[in-house]
Amino acid sequence: MKATIIFLLLAQVSWAGPFQQRGLFDFMLEDEASGISPDEHAPEIPELDPLGPMCPFRCQCHLRVVQCSDLGLDKVPKDLPPDTTLLDLQNNKITEIRDGDFKNLKNLHALILVNNKISKISPGAFTPLVKLERLYLSKNQLKELPEKMPKTLQELRAHENEITKVRKAVFNGMNQMIVIELGTNPLKSSGIENGAFQGMKKLSYIRVADSNITSIPQGLPPSLTELHLDGNKISRVDAGSLKGLNNLAKLGLSFNSISTVDNGSLANTPHLRELHLDNNKLTKVPGGLAEHKYIQVVYLHNNNISAVGTNDFCPPGYNTKKASYSGVSLFSNPVQYWEIQPSTFRCVYVRSAIQLGNYK
Ligand SMILES: *[C@@H]1O[C@H](CO)[C@@H](O)[C@H](O)[C@H]1NC(C)=O
Ligand SMILES: *[C@@H]1O[C@H](CO)[C@@H](O)[C@H](O)[C@H]1NC(C)=O
Ligand SMILES: *[C@@H]1O[C@H](CO)[C@@H](O)[C@H](O)[C@H]1NC(C)=O
Repeated sequence: MKATIIFLLLAQVSWAGPFQQRGLFDFMLEDEASGISPDEHAPEIPELDPLGPMCPFRCQCHLRVVQCSDLGLDKVPKDLPPDTTLLDLQNNKITEIRDGDFKNLKNLHALILVNNKISKISPGAFTPLVKLERLYLSKNQLKELPEKMPKTLQELRAHENEITKVRKAVFNGMNQMIVIELGTNPLKSSGIENGAFQGMKKLSYIRVADSNITSIPQGLPPSLTELHLDGNKISRVDAGSLKGLNNLAKLGLSFNSISTVDNGSLANTPHLRELHLDNNKLTKVPGGLAEHKYIQVVYLHNNNISAVGTNDFCPPGYNTKKASYSGVSLFSNPVQYWEIQPSTFRCVYVRSAIQLGNYK
């Protein structure tokens, strides 16, 4: 169970984007990679300092990883070994994180608090964690993101909490941040402060799915490569909020109520490769696909598209596309596949890339 959940977290992490992802366990292996082979050590005599911190009762400690998951703990154990690099406290019943809970853990890289009952985090609780890179807080009862998160943080996951507000101040100076996951929180658009994500120069991945936001957040950083906003109540793709997103490769907007995609949305995202707009209320194919050089995947199934023009997907003359389509879906729309001119897909060389109808 434990292993499965860690594996799932890892799988998500490595899936998250094209940035250079350091393996979660790399830092644990540093000892082994240090070149000192075990036989060069003096014979192991366990040093038991009766006053020093040992492995907390019932936890398992190995290679600076402290595993305390699934133990029914209602608070963070005391006397955690100060050289800990990964602390796993998932699947417990912890309700509060207090100042001092993580004192001395100045080498901690990853803190896993997923699936507890945490509703309160004291403002100074994370201050000692001067090397923290990954903070996993998903499946708790937080109403707000913690204040004073370490500036070294690269990845924050706070999926499935009760967060209603994302204030700009919580991300102030977080210049190492790469991944932010805030899905399934009762956010609404008014909950995300304008420019909340703006200053983070390395931010590559944002996911705020299933959170009832009604518009694309404003002031997204140009470093962004993936933006996932599926399952919200967005009614329009606002070209302005996509302005400057030169690195955006994946845009997920499935299961919203989008009826309009502003002209210029695709021009503002010149390196977009995947656009997921299925399960919305579009009445036509978004403008700008034919001129776009890199778009490969366009999901438009389950919309209200009643006509498809011959220049909706492919440029009118000589094919100027640099990448061919690999996935276009149009099924479950009022348009019938036999009404679409075959020349509509003249720039597509793999027929199976196009899913038009449910060929009954
Ligand atoms: C979104 O709104 C619906 C009602 O329209 C509600 O049932 C659902 O819980 C809300 N989702 C979140 C994450 O708040
Ligand atoms: C968007 O572009 C299309 C084709 O270029 C044009 O017909 C349409 O009027 C434009 N819509 C707006 C709102 O500018
Ligand atoms: C689909 O679009 C037509 C207009 O083209 C509109 O009358 C109809 O209400 C729309 N249907 C849905 C389910 O939005």
